[in-house]
Amino acid sequence: MSAEPNPQRQHFEEIDSTNRVALEWTDAPPFSVVSADLQTSGRGRLGRSWSSPAGKGLYFSVVNPPVDEGLASLLSGLAVANAVEQLTPLSISCKWPNDIICRGFKIGGILCESKNGVFVVGIGINIAHDPEDLPVRAVFPASSLKILGADSVETETLLAAIQQNMRDVFALPREVVLARYSSKMFGVGEVVKVGKLIGVLQGVDESGQLLLRTTDGLKPVLAGDVEFFAS
Ligand code: BTN
Repeated sequence: MSAEPNPQRQHFEEIDSTNRVALEWTDAPPFSVVSADLQTSGRGRLGRSWSSPAGKGLYFSVVNPPVDEGLASLLSGLAVANAVEQLTPLSISCKWPNDIICRGFKIGGILCESKNGVFVVGIGINIAHDPEDLPVRAVFPASSLKILGADSVETETLLAAIQQNMRDVFALPREVVLARYSSKMFGVGEVVKVGKLIGVLQGVDESGQLLLRTTDGLKPVLAGDVEFFAS
């Protein structure tokens, strides 16, 4: 039996997008990483951009991790939440499907992409941003670990902790890991709107779809933005 080749790393002082580079890395051993100090065209979900100022955040992409692609965003979010909680006193939650939330602020995000048989999990975490470094967001305003009081997190330490947690989380049985994800999910029990559907957020089903309890019963949601109503 041949052993898996060791993961490799490409690091750039400056690059357009680590996801863009990672998607071109067709012969990368599983779990290889592309990282950067600065991204000039960081990509966010739904065609948005991801602000990536130099030396302020952790910007990296994991190539072909051994995980069900449909669950990758959720399970990577759980791994990020676990890692940040291990390194800081902060309590982290995951807003389905890809936002990393702390005290109602967005501190990180995940973008999964695939191209020509390469699957990539891209992760951005705001670490040392000051308020003026952050983009303006109307809901779930952006923040950073530093602003929220965890001001001594080293980028490489956080990267290593997330990598270890991804390995641990991806190895868990599906029902265990989805129960853990649901317990970390932001807004469970609250009334939310996703597209035209309105219902009480219940958690996720066995395929990672959002579950809403509506007036017509329990409805799974495959994709969309979860909107909360002001309380
Ligand atoms: C989102 O919240 O919309 C997802 C943001 C994902 C940002 C990361 S930063 C590293 C990787 N490279 C990119 O271009 N995007 C992801």
